[in-house]
Amino acid sequence: MDTLFSRGFIGDLELANRIVMPAIKTGFFNESFGANERYLDFLEARARGGAALLIVEAFSGNHMIMGEAGEDVLHENAAALMQELAGRVHAAGANIALQLGQAAAVQDASPDRENNRQAVMQVFVGLAEAAAAAGFDALEIQGDFCGKTDYDPVSRDLYYKNLFASIHEKVKLPLIYRLSETGRGSLDDVLHVCRIVELAGAAAIHIPVNPWQTLEPPGFLIPLAAAVKKAVRIPVIAAGRINRPELAAELLKHGAADFISMGRALLADPELPRKAERGCLEQIRPCTGCNEGCINRYMAGEPITCVQNLAVGREKELSDLPEIQQPKKILVAGGGPAGMTAAKYLAKRGHCVRLVEKLPQLGGQVNIAALVPGKQDYRFITTCLEEDLSSGGVEISLNTSLTSLREEEMPDVVIVASGSEAKKLLLLYGLTVPVFSAREIILSNSFMNNGQVLVIGAGLLGLEAAYTLATRGSDVVVVEQEQEIARDGPPVYKNHLLKKLEGRKVKILTGTAILGGEGAKIKLQNLLSGETTYLCAGGGVVVAVGAEPVCPEKLQGQNDKLHVIGDARLPGKILAAMEEALVLALKL
Ligand SMILES: Cc1cc2nc3c(=O)[nH]c(=O)nc-3n(C[C@H](O)[C@H](O)[C@H](O)COP(=O)(O)O)c2cc1C
Ligand code: SF4
Repeated sequence: MDTLFSRGFIGDLELANRIVMPAIKTGFFNESFGANERYLDFLEARARGGAALLIVEAFSGNHMIMGEAGEDVLHENAAALMQELAGRVHAAGANIALQLGQAAAVQDASPDRENNRQAVMQVFVGLAEAAAAAGFDALEIQGDFCGKTDYDPVSRDLYYKNLFASIHEKVKLPLIYRLSETGRGSLDDVLHVCRIVELAGAAAIHIPVNPWQTLEPPGFLIPLAAAVKKAVRIPVIAAGRINRPELAAELLKHGAADFISMGRALLADPELPRKAERGCLEQIRPCTGCNEGCINRYMAGEPITCVQNLAVGREKELSDLPEIQQPKKILVAGGGPAGMTAAKYLAKRGHCVRLVEKLPQLGGQVNIAALVPGKQDYRFITTCLEEDLSSGGVEISLNTSLTSLREEEMPDVVIVASGSEAKKLLLLYGLTVPVFSAREIILSNSFMNNGQVLVIGAGLLGLEAAYTLATRGSDVVVVEQEQEIARDGPPVYKNHLLKKLEGRKVKILTGTAILGGEGAKIKLQNLLSGETTYLCAGGGVVVAVGAEPVCPEKLQGQNDKLHVIGDARLPGKILAAMEEALVLALKL
């Protein structure tokens, strides 16, 4: 771990350790860039947590730097905000850089590329000067729009040379270059650009990660970082799901990079560097790679949060919860993510909380998600919440169903977070082959290799069941009555999953209804043509047609004390259930 906490240089900027927080679009800035406490607190928490260099998300592309007409002006509040950002980060012991990038408005303003480039350059130079004046320590150029492969390589190289020269003429700060060529150009082209920007005066090269790559396994871009490192003499900042300090330290030790970029890892746990430096690795809340709170929210145009850390963007509010005047006796029924989150925050606020779970373990559906190949890090959602409950003094009763409540043990409030169960299909009662729910099949680890397996429903869960079965060697047909598949999933994950299914024995039939089944035969109907066919599902049938809430009957009639949350109210996503639990816990 010593390598990770050794001092290092980017240009002549000395950094306290090797951990860099990359630019992350948060959606926290307000339009007028006046009171931006939310972003300031967010950044300060990561500086206090021990990251050496924090790269502030690009301001451009919004009114921060441009008026409505796209003119090159800095919003009147921007300089003050920049100063405050630099002041807070420096006071917390870290360094700060500004990303210059995504000036889409400038680029789109004219169809003429040369003019666009000049406009981008002007904007970047203006921002660079403002950042330097505000006390920033470095700048990062996001290569996104200047390195496209449809540009003539010679003029692209010249553009980089001019861009670096124009900024350096006005500002002496180290300039990091965030590559954009991956996924567009060949490795040779990427390495060529690295050499060009090094010659142009770049102080470091930062490996980029595209949103659709964020579901790859930890450290998947290490080979690229290592290749770049061999091609240049300036420092290389490795990136891409480096979510554990152990992996980061290994990379540095083997010379694959000089610095480590940790984005989502620091959303999930801003204290990761300090905890790692103290050797308290087991206290770190690892990023699960789920993307539910970060990429998915960003793509939906909403402010980000994090499944592992609901305090992202609410740092002050959630670290400083108001004291309860009259603590209540609260019973939480259900130990899935909603129940555990409610119990965690209720206990934090000083209530006396008991959580009952009918299964022998906590976690609910998170435990099923964690068994889908590639999603094993979901297990950290359960382990971290378990730790929170234990340190928060929540009384936990496993193997306990909430079937009845005696008058004397009646709590002041009951929260029902008993989750959901898979919907059944009555049509299938004539089948003699095994019929499972998607949840059962993912949980069971069993093989269905005695013939073709039919998965009914191509929502995310159905596709995950198909993928899980395919990795166990099954031959799978997925049938979906809608024309579109994975309608309940964010595009990034949907595309990732479809890619994983490529080359496996999985066939997807859309616009197809199930009419019934007998023995091993299933009657299908094409909803467009009306044609009916039979499919032999000798290997069995897996049903993934949605979920319905589970709510203990005995609790009916307790309405004045009862709150139903999460899947027990409306089946949905893990993060939505956790957020609902948090809202309730802050209200009680
Ligand atoms: C919500 C979100 C927004 C992002 N915005 C930017 C951005 O504005 N500029 C950029 O260069 N990278 C951006 N990224 C990519 C991150 O900087 C980082 O490279 C990526 O998350 C992968 O690294 P990680 O696995 O350490 O998170 C963003 C990532 C996320 C999750
Ligand atoms: S929402 Fe998921 S992927 Fe995003 S930072 Fe949090 S744990 Fe990581």
